[in-house]
Amino acid sequence: MTDTALTPSALLAGLPARQGFGDATLIRLAPGAIDLGGGNPSTDLLPLDVYRDAFHEVTDSDRLAPLLKYSPAAGLPELRSAIAAREGVSSERVLITNGGAHGLALAVLSLLDPGDLIVVDDPVYPLFLRVLDLIGVEVAAIRVGSDGIDTDELERRLREGLRPKALFTVPTFQNPSGVTLSVEKEAALVALAEKYGFTIIADDPYRAISSPGFVVPERRSFRGSDHVLAVNTFSKTLGPGLRLGWIVLPAALSERVTWLRNRLDGQTSGILQAVVTRMLADERLDPSISAAGAEYAVKARALTAALRAEFGNEVEVAEPRGGFFAWARLIGDVDFTRLFEAAQDRGVFYQRGEWFAAAGEGYRGFLRLSFSEVSSEDLTEGVSRLALAWRELTARG
Ligand SMILES: Cc1ncc(COP(=O)(O)O)c(C=O)c1O
Repeated sequence: MTDTALTPSALLAGLPARQGFGDATLIRLAPGAIDLGGGNPSTDLLPLDVYRDAFHEVTDSDRLAPLLKYSPAAGLPELRSAIAAREGVSSERVLITNGGAHGLALAVLSLLDPGDLIVVDDPVYPLFLRVLDLIGVEVAAIRVGSDGIDTDELERRLREGLRPKALFTVPTFQNPSGVTLSVEKEAALVALAEKYGFTIIADDPYRAISSPGFVVPERRSFRGSDHVLAVNTFSKTLGPGLRLGWIVLPAALSERVTWLRNRLDGQTSGILQAVVTRMLADERLDPSISAAGAEYAVKARALTAALRAEFGNEVEVAEPRGGFFAWARLIGDVDFTRLFEAAQDRGVFYQRGEWFAAAGEGYRGFLRLSFSEVSSEDLTEGVSRLALAWRELTARG
């Protein structure tokens, strides 16, 4: 008999197992545990009435049947124009995706070849590194400071001969650090991309989630450059279960990226695109997203206040001005693997700093604590459980 063992592709056979971030086997959530690990929006803060009305309008109309046909690979023209108007770009540059992760995969497949070099934020959104596994590329890490990726350090490395094909950054309320790229650094980054010929992948899912009074940069430099591919998603404002996002492509690539998309999944759901187009035209939507930003700010304050109250000078944490996460550093000579275990024993889960290191080891003692989904009371309780675990270990020495 011939051997009928399945022989997967080298890509499939070579995919590394999930490690750290996103590895569900590391999570032990007993009943009553407080999960500060996730990236979900709060279901209370989703615009459910706007959703319901838009769904009714689309499904009750005679548009329903045509929306069940195949639709253009780049997206429904009316949704592309609505997003283009918000982004201040031409609608030809907008491609509708099935969410941010899909947009990142399209970006990587469009810009990189095996063996190429990409510069990434350090700390980095770890699931982007998993997207890079599709291609097999070299990664160079550049530190993220208090106002975004360190463009001085990048310039120095480029002068020394670093030659990336692309650079990945989360410019607003960065995951995990929460920092926002300044307008000056945005311009410097674009100047470097244009001088050294690399493309910036700007992944911006948190930009609409901001504290009242915080001025989110408009990203004029990014928008005005043909060296930027901007990836976005409705996951943080309308919910990740929607699976809808978009890319703003450099004009020179938009046709070919659409061809690529055609060869992968073909299109995004026409019905969902019609629903979201309707929602974007609803005057209640933007105020509800701003109001959600204000509620998230209250939670962020509750979390940082609890951390400072419990840990005093054993914690360094900045109050987030938007997004979903606080990035805290605990200072002490502690085994942080044991802390992670002890915290789960006490009923609180968080993401360990080490899991966000872009290359090698780093961020020992850092914790990414998500405040988006949990009530202020549970944030305070979660921090006091963490502090109990901390004291237990620091007392033992
Ligand atoms: C920085 C960043 N990029 C992309 C995504 C993925 O977005 P989506 O859920 O739409 O795939 C996330 C989700 O947490 C994120 O934090």
